[in-house]
Amino acid sequence: MGRGGSAGTLAGPEGHGALDVVLEGLRRLEYRGYDSAGVAVITGNGIESRKKSGKLTNLLDELQANPLPESLTGIGHTRWATHGGPTDRNAHPHLADGGKLAVIHNGIIENFAELKRTLSAQGVEFVSETDTEVAAALIGELFRGEAGGDLTRAMQLACQRLEGAFTLLAIHRDQPDTVVAARRNSPLVVGLGDGENFLGSDVSGFIDFTRRAVELGQDQIVTITPDSFEVTDFNGKPAQGREFQVDWDAAAAEKGGFASFMEKEINDQPEAVAQTLLGRAGLDGKLQLDELRIDPSQLKAVDKIIVLACGTSAYAGQVAKYAIEHWCRIPVEVELSHEFRYRDPIVNANTLVVAISQSGETMDTLMAARYAQEQGAKVLAICNTNGSTIPREADAVLYTHAGPEIAVASTKAFLAQITAAYLLGLYLGQLRGNLFTGQIRDILADLAKVPAKIQTVLDDSDQVKKLARTMADTRSVLFLGRHVGFPVAMEGALKLKELAYIHAEGFAAGELKHGPIALIEEGQPVFVIVPSPRGRNSLHAKVVSNIQEIRARGAKTIVIAEEGDTAVQAYAEHVFYIPETPTLLAPLLATVPLQVFACELATAKGYDVDQPRNLAKSVTVE
Ligand code: M6R
Repeated sequence: MGRGGSAGTLAGPEGHGALDVVLEGLRRLEYRGYDSAGVAVITGNGIESRKKSGKLTNLLDELQANPLPESLTGIGHTRWATHGGPTDRNAHPHLADGGKLAVIHNGIIENFAELKRTLSAQGVEFVSETDTEVAAALIGELFRGEAGGDLTRAMQLACQRLEGAFTLLAIHRDQPDTVVAARRNSPLVVGLGDGENFLGSDVSGFIDFTRRAVELGQDQIVTITPDSFEVTDFNGKPAQGREFQVDWDAAAAEKGGFASFMEKEINDQPEAVAQTLLGRAGLDGKLQLDELRIDPSQLKAVDKIIVLACGTSAYAGQVAKYAIEHWCRIPVEVELSHEFRYRDPIVNANTLVVAISQSGETMDTLMAARYAQEQGAKVLAICNTNGSTIPREADAVLYTHAGPEIAVASTKAFLAQITAAYLLGLYLGQLRGNLFTGQIRDILADLAKVPAKIQTVLDDSDQVKKLARTMADTRSVLFLGRHVGFPVAMEGALKLKELAYIHAEGFAAGELKHGPIALIEEGQPVFVIVPSPRGRNSLHAKVVSNIQEIRARGAKTIVIAEEGDTAVQAYAEHVFYIPETPTLLAPLLATVPLQVFACELATAKGYDVDQPRNLAKSVTVE
């Protein structure tokens, strides 16, 4: 299983060598994943492939040691492992049909276990832990059988049986001048050259060779030859992609046309949440974790949860506390990892430690998790980086599938962590019998609607950006929230601090009167995260009172409220609305305008939002 970049190419006799094109494409796509890389080409001897775990440079070394012959047809992949560790064996391409077929894949095939069982019963043997190999085997079986040796037909038939999200590329020895690709909920673009055609996860995969591109629609299949491309749907009915001219330079192409990785990653969030939700319900409709090395009876006996994390990940942990305590009735403490070890924490075999880390390498969190394990606690990691140290050492793992996060400021990983924490809460609620199956189903249904709602917030973010640009000279911004709005407020403040180097603080709105209200003076900008008026009404009313209190003292109030909440308008200089959603899930929406605000304001100040001063993406020192 992978979630990386794929580049495929088909070059005509006048075109570039396939291997050179694929490697160049992978070099440009490496930002999408760098756990392993691999290529396959069609030669006179059939399919030949090389693959290596680690960065692309490992594959280049391998190709130097074991070169591949010249070829005009090839595919390549750079992987961001989701399930199945980042090993040589799990790297793509995966071969099938006796080594005559090679397949690469991004995404998650949800019904792979069921397909694997069926194919195994038919005598197919698997060598990796990936779902990609299952897709390859399925295409191979169909190619030899029902599709009558037609790769496009085999792909169509296979896609009719696959569930989940995928971009698949396949080549077969018996059709040496063809590459077939399919997409569902995962990107795929065709590049149209002169006597050569290309495929890529995005245009950066072929931008050095052509600027003419065709974007495929949902559930479409494309077959390319050196001088043709043909699009169908999964049933074989002719279809059309959208042709466009790429007018980005190569650097912009890697960022999906956005000015920065951070902006791209903010815009990736609907997909990050959707991918994190994907494939969590098993065949029996029950939730499952990625790796579970804890006996479920021990999880049932857990009487306390301690979340350990730093920075943004710790704010995700604070959101988790509200959800897990509400759903599972287990006390949850959230502690900064670097503080945990240096007091005398009460931890025992009935404590479940949840270590949240995007990178999986944060030394503070790693050391704290190790300490907890030494005290007898079980550690469950919520992590975005497959194969990193924290999940490797943990007793259980729930991966966020946000894809690689390049910008130092965490955005999509935060929303994915919160999503994973909700899944953990539901899992524990299911296991311990705190939640009925129907309740879990309803919450999952609400979660499934969130990606489209995030997209709405992004689509409506022009006013937030406009406001940010007018505030470039602001010296201090405060953020207030209650309940799950409190960690959102702190995350909004952190984003502004780290990107725009502006003093910013997030407060619990109720704490204001105990001191921070003294900071309010004429013109002080204050963001207020207002809870839904549909939820516990007292909560909404209290926050509205807080807005009045600070407004009376001169604050310039900027309010994030739920659509239809007209009550706040009278007290707000600016209101940004987010779609309706249950209160506990609201952080997935309310955070987005704050990220957009910080990114835009820092950009207006001329700062590099991808690499803010003094910071590192992964903090591997204590
Ligand atoms: O990789 P981790 O999630 O363990 O990293 C934790 C923090 O260092 C990280 O969230 C940091 O606060 C970010 N720069 C926030 O944007």
